[in-house]
Amino acid sequence: MTEPRYHLTSYGCQMNKLDSELVEARLQQRGYRPAVDEEDADVVLINTCSVRQHAEDRVWSKLGKLRVRKRTEPSLVVGVLGCMAQEHKRYMLSRMPHVDMVVGPSAFGDIDDTIEEARVKNARIAAERAPANTRHEVFGANMLSVDDGVSGDRIRRDVKVRPVKSQAYMSIMRGCNMPCSYCIVPTTRGDEVSRPIATLVDEANRLCDDGVTEITLLGQTVNAYGRDLKGQGADLSKLLRALHEIPALRRLAFITSHPNFLSPDLITAMAELPKVAKFLHLPAQSGSNRVLKAMRRGYTVERYRKRIDQLWAQAPDIELHSDWIVGHPGETEEDFEQTVQFCKEIGFAQSYIFKYSPRPGTLSSEVEDDVPTADKERRNQVLLATQEELSIAKNRALIGSTVEVLVEGQSKVAGRMTGRTAQHRLVHFESDDAGLVGQYVPVRVREALSHSCVGDLLAQDAAEESARDRAAAAGAGSVA
Ligand code: 5AD
Ligand code: SF4
Repeated sequence: MTEPRYHLTSYGCQMNKLDSELVEARLQQRGYRPAVDEEDADVVLINTCSVRQHAEDRVWSKLGKLRVRKRTEPSLVVGVLGCMAQEHKRYMLSRMPHVDMVVGPSAFGDIDDTIEEARVKNARIAAERAPANTRHEVFGANMLSVDDGVSGDRIRRDVKVRPVKSQAYMSIMRGCNMPCSYCIVPTTRGDEVSRPIATLVDEANRLCDDGVTEITLLGQTVNAYGRDLKGQGADLSKLLRALHEIPALRRLAFITSHPNFLSPDLITAMAELPKVAKFLHLPAQSGSNRVLKAMRRGYTVERYRKRIDQLWAQAPDIELHSDWIVGHPGETEEDFEQTVQFCKEIGFAQSYIFKYSPRPGTLSSEVEDDVPTADKERRNQVLLATQEELSIAKNRALIGSTVEVLVEGQSKVAGRMTGRTAQHRLVHFESDDAGLVGQYVPVRVREALSHSCVGDLLAQDAAEESARDRAAAAGAGSVA
């Protein structure tokens, strides 16, 4: 009997990407093989995102196509995973008979069993014309076992799904308890649940034993880590310090932070721990206090600024990344202008800009979506252009300097490789040596683009020199 083939499409955040990796690992361990094309798969899985309508629309359209395919291929198993599964479970189960599995983000613990059961049953279901209610539906609170799976107990060593062997994500908490008025995440992902420090250190050790040198910690509000672990005194600064001890680990990043939890302890840890990545993803969302209040973000522009001043007083080389929403209900041109000014004032290195999209069930969706689409589009373009200017200026400042790049793979441009600096800047350089993937190499920057730099690969002794320079100029950034 040939092995069953699966195809998984992943939408949305890094958390989804990691979940998808874990689902794949489980399936491969179970003897499933990845199908090169979706058309060849026996099991088609979609890991979904609900954060904006656009992301959902893509999935609805995909499900429409799968409905047609299933007419001629009744044994095909279709599974919807993630946030949309949680949000639209009832609709999918009652109105979409071609969807066999609906698995919310907190029920991935036994996903391989679920998929296998659906696949085996599905063959029988098709033959027996069993009623729709035998379709598989899983919701539960067993989300942590899937995380534990990454570290090897349930995932065999020879099952590899990490795209770059030296890089790994680690989910340190799930869910979100924040009251942001526009956001669906607290509904789809539920309450914050943090994993204990000891478990995480154990997992990181095993990842490092397996060749990982860069770990990115994931959480919707990653710097709120630990507040649900009552009495354990766990917080992100302590976790960073514990992980920092692992000798093989070279870089330690974390995304995404909330401005309200940028504590003095976390700032000190970032300043003191050399392996901690030199960027902080700290979404401001808006530069207008009026809009921030409507968004229920819990801070003002002044408070955000104050925290950043504290951060830069101790760690001046940390670059900031932000998310912004343009066109939130009630946002005037003046509010938007304040956002542009704030973006410039802080000098963000990178921004993700989103047009407001009303999510049913959220507080913001109860008021009129009163910013016209054309205005949202224009504001989006203006803020993008603002960020582009800032990014290009930061990249230009690197010209002539040597940066340490963790090589991630081949660039889209033939004959070039690509990687990232400790500040998360994308750097391309001429080489076709695939053996460099996963290595830290010195690159002298010669050209600045808006989203990346281009440079020349230097010999390794230059790397050591640049490392010495960096140590000597501690606090001056990743620029040697
Ligand atoms: N509309 C547009 N953008 C949103 N985000 C969250 N909810 C919405 C929404 N309803 C953005 C925020 C968040 C990022 C992940 O997605 O900027 O930080
Ligand atoms: Fe959504 Fe706010 Fe939680 Fe981020 S902090 S996931 S924007 S509710």
